[in-house]
Amino acid sequence: MRWPLENRLETRLDLPRRLRRGRKAEWARKLMRENRLTVEDLIWPVFITEGTGVTEAIATMPGVNRYSMDQAVEQAREAASLGIPALALFPNTPSHLRDETGSEALNPDNLICRAIRAIKAAVPEIGIITDVALDPYTSHGHDGLLAEGRILNDETVAMLVRQALIQADAGADVIAPSDMMDGRVAAIREALDAAGFADVSIMAYAAKYASAFYGPFRDAVGSSGTLKGDKKTYQMDPANAVEALREVELDLAEGADYVMVKPGMPYLDIITRVKDHFGVPTFAYQVSGEYAMIMAAAERGMLDGEKAMLETLLAFKRAGCDGILTYFAPRVARLLASRD
Ligand code: PBG
Repeated sequence: MRWPLENRLETRLDLPRRLRRGRKAEWARKLMRENRLTVEDLIWPVFITEGTGVTEAIATMPGVNRYSMDQAVEQAREAASLGIPALALFPNTPSHLRDETGSEALNPDNLICRAIRAIKAAVPEIGIITDVALDPYTSHGHDGLLAEGRILNDETVAMLVRQALIQADAGADVIAPSDMMDGRVAAIREALDAAGFADVSIMAYAAKYASAFYGPFRDAVGSSGTLKGDKKTYQMDPANAVEALREVELDLAEGADYVMVKPGMPYLDIITRVKDHFGVPTFAYQVSGEYAMIMAAAERGMLDGEKAMLETLLAFKRAGCDGILTYFAPRVARLLASRD
């Protein structure tokens, strides 16, 4: 939708053009406002750890904790009462359960499956999104099976399908494959349908870039020390934009209900292109490094953290996002609630 600016300027050159009139007071700015951030835009990524009564700070993500299951349930309860629609769960798997093939990912009683059940039982109204990928479970920190230095695609997909099924069986509402293997969305969709999970949705990490901004997350799930090499043979090259459209197109064709762009802020152009091109539910993940940057600068007094937080989240909306995965979710939700 474009205003025919040239024609208009030609015919109205006699009139002063003063856009500042629309900004003269807060009431006027409110009327002009094109985008709004609400609590309903937020998905909160939560890290789960073993134990009871554990709330464990993550050094590289100030203000973000890992929670044992009982604590995660309390957090879920609060998130629901604040109006946050959904949580995205990630496990910090104990190191003795990590192995070459990430076999703990297929244990129906692993940390994530137990967390899904506990949260679903206590807070049934909140949506549960679960991560499908092997990196929190492998001793080498990769998202897939590794053989002679290569990540095996189809063998990994077969495991991801089984991982998705046990998560769905535990009660996950949305399966979110973050691994970037080819063909995994179709394989997961087919298996979910065949197993009677037609109502379980898929949020595809469709355009996921090989990014430096995941550093703090790898600390949070305990894979930073173990990761061998990088993820460039499966995650996207940050130089590419058209390829992101091909990734999204494929994931949609394979049955994705929602698509995600990740990281968020450095890839706002990708979000806009995806939304303009496909017009489907589009999400961004404001990743750990983006969160850490804002928090670190705020802690050092270099900027106003709260304002920066709100500005970045609004930018996602302006870019075309339907929602945002962000570690700021509970803080923003509280702030928005206090303004009502
Ligand atoms: C891996 C995964 C990653 C994130 C979510 N799922 C990291 C990676 O690809 O190495 C990153 C999230 C964040 O940085 O906040 N399956």
